[in-house]
Amino acid sequence: MTTKTAVISFCRLLMGLALVVSSIVNGYKLRYHGESFKPDIVLRVTENSIPVACSTRYSVVINGTSPGPEIRLRQGRTYWIRVYNDMETQNLTMHWHGLSMAASPFSDGSPQASQWPIAPQYFFDYELHPNVGDAGTYFYHSHVGFQAMSASGPLIIEDDDPPYQYDGERTIHLSDLFLQTDEQIETGLTQPPYVWSGEPSNVLVNGQGVLLNPGADTGDTECSLATILVEPEKVYRLRFIGATALSYVSLGFQSHNNLSIIEADGDYTQPFGVDHLQIGAGQRFSALMRTKSRKELEEDRANGINHYFLQIETRERPDSVRSYAALIYPGGSYNVSTAPANPPMILPSTTLGWLDYQLRPLTPNNFPTLAEVTRRVTVTITQIVNNTLVTFLQNGFPWTESFPPMPYLVALYNEDLSLFPSYESAINNGGMDNRTRTFPAKLGEVLEIIIQMTGAGNGILNVHPFHAHGAHFYDIGSGSGAYDLMQNEERLKGVEPVRRDTAMTYRYPGSGIPGVPWAWRAWRLRVTDAGVWLVHCHILQHMLMGMQTVWVFGDRNDVLRLGYPAVKGYLSYGGEAYGNSSRWPTCVHYWDDDDD
Ligand code: C2O
Ligand code: CU
Repeated sequence: MTTKTAVISFCRLLMGLALVVSSIVNGYKLRYHGESFKPDIVLRVTENSIPVACSTRYSVVINGTSPGPEIRLRQGRTYWIRVYNDMETQNLTMHWHGLSMAASPFSDGSPQASQWPIAPQYFFDYELHPNVGDAGTYFYHSHVGFQAMSASGPLIIEDDDPPYQYDGERTIHLSDLFLQTDEQIETGLTQPPYVWSGEPSNVLVNGQGVLLNPGADTGDTECSLATILVEPEKVYRLRFIGATALSYVSLGFQSHNNLSIIEADGDYTQPFGVDHLQIGAGQRFSALMRTKSRKELEEDRANGINHYFLQIETRERPDSVRSYAALIYPGGSYNVSTAPANPPMILPSTTLGWLDYQLRPLTPNNFPTLAEVTRRVTVTITQIVNNTLVTFLQNGFPWTESFPPMPYLVALYNEDLSLFPSYESAINNGGMDNRTRTFPAKLGEVLEIIIQMTGAGNGILNVHPFHAHGAHFYDIGSGSGAYDLMQNEERLKGVEPVRRDTAMTYRYPGSGIPGVPWAWRAWRLRVTDAGVWLVHCHILQHMLMGMQTVWVFGDRNDVLRLGYPAVKGYLSYGGEAYGNSSRWPTCVHYWDDDDD
């Protein structure tokens, strides 16, 4: 060994020691993300006036566009996604909708629950590790205010060996367009006098759309329908992403009604044939579609048909919005700057409880039986109109980002017990600890969770897509009125339910009496993933109006798997886990397969 290599080895030894010192706790590594650290993906979030559907809107965008870029990750690997908040005044987080961040808890992107939001001009490195079995369709979105209307993008977990065969994939990302700014909408919903956002002016496909009533507006920017290009005689996996702010939509393809659902919210299902889909905010489906034969195309062209439409209609609202994308084969054509003059299809009316009790998991999923349920928690939702504001309450309380003075996870680490739930008081109070507005549960419990909507003035005029962060739940169905355990058990006979992360409560006909049970959705959940998890309606307006809950799974030791020094940088707003133009961040590496 020469002197020089000896010196180098000595330095390595010192560096190794330094590493050991800085990662005393449980083998987790604390790493300085300096110049040499290369994130796998970089997302830069800005506010810009963007052209959209023949109009212009000041929007929060990701890498300059809405939706942001499609992210594709593989199972069983670790990724670092750096998210820059390049905005001047607004906070930001990024949530990886449908993936459980149990292993890297500060990465869930729920502001004031799992992390301090990323301050303006700061950035944050999210550690993602899709597990084997997660392959499927997801999306990412900001979790602050109304930003997710435009700040979202597809997130695909790829499968090395998919159980279904297909020739290609197409992503169909659906989003609402409201022409008011986020700020106008937020102010209207949260400050007196209450002003509802109104209905979206468009439902966009992959960020694209055209004027729906050309008379109503001159359309000052270029615009076109999204095109979905396909080849004949092929099977495509269509990945539908319900990234709408408000809309519950029905959609179908003109003259292509042979769809087969194979995935719901990131889990494969047994094939289930449908001729149209219903999708709520937060839901995803994959469907296989066999395209037309060359002969069929020739016949259609002989009859003057050289394109087809994807037709989308919002449902269960006072007004319905209809929009389109174009499905085009080679040699086909369509002037995509206009919508068809007349709707080419009649989409069936809404099926209440669509696919409930019908979808089956592709492989057995360890569904918990009634006998295994250890506790039943009912979340009763009411709407109050107080002075000039409209608020949604869960068991008597609203929850928004402004309730907790700091994120729950941070409070736990800070030993600030003001936000640590009392399991005992929750148990004695139907599952909710009122002081912290949390629903605590211990690992190993098997919960049955009932989302029970009640009638309330205008509140009944909505469907509500309920979404759970963390582990997926087993969806055990929905219905009108009050949940009836034994009646539902009858309906579940012989059914092996699928796991979902977003499911609807429906709008049943008639007029609801305020406070009286109106519609329900029920889940079972094996409590496995320690952490702080939001469960909320995915309608962005309703979130701002308080329709959110916080669940804390695991006791303090389960949740706090890392000791204090390691996580210090995460505990303050703009702390050392957050970088800025003059400082690189220092981050905990929960997964250790990324020694590069
Ligand atoms: Cu996509 Cu908390 O949600
Ligand atoms: Cu809602």
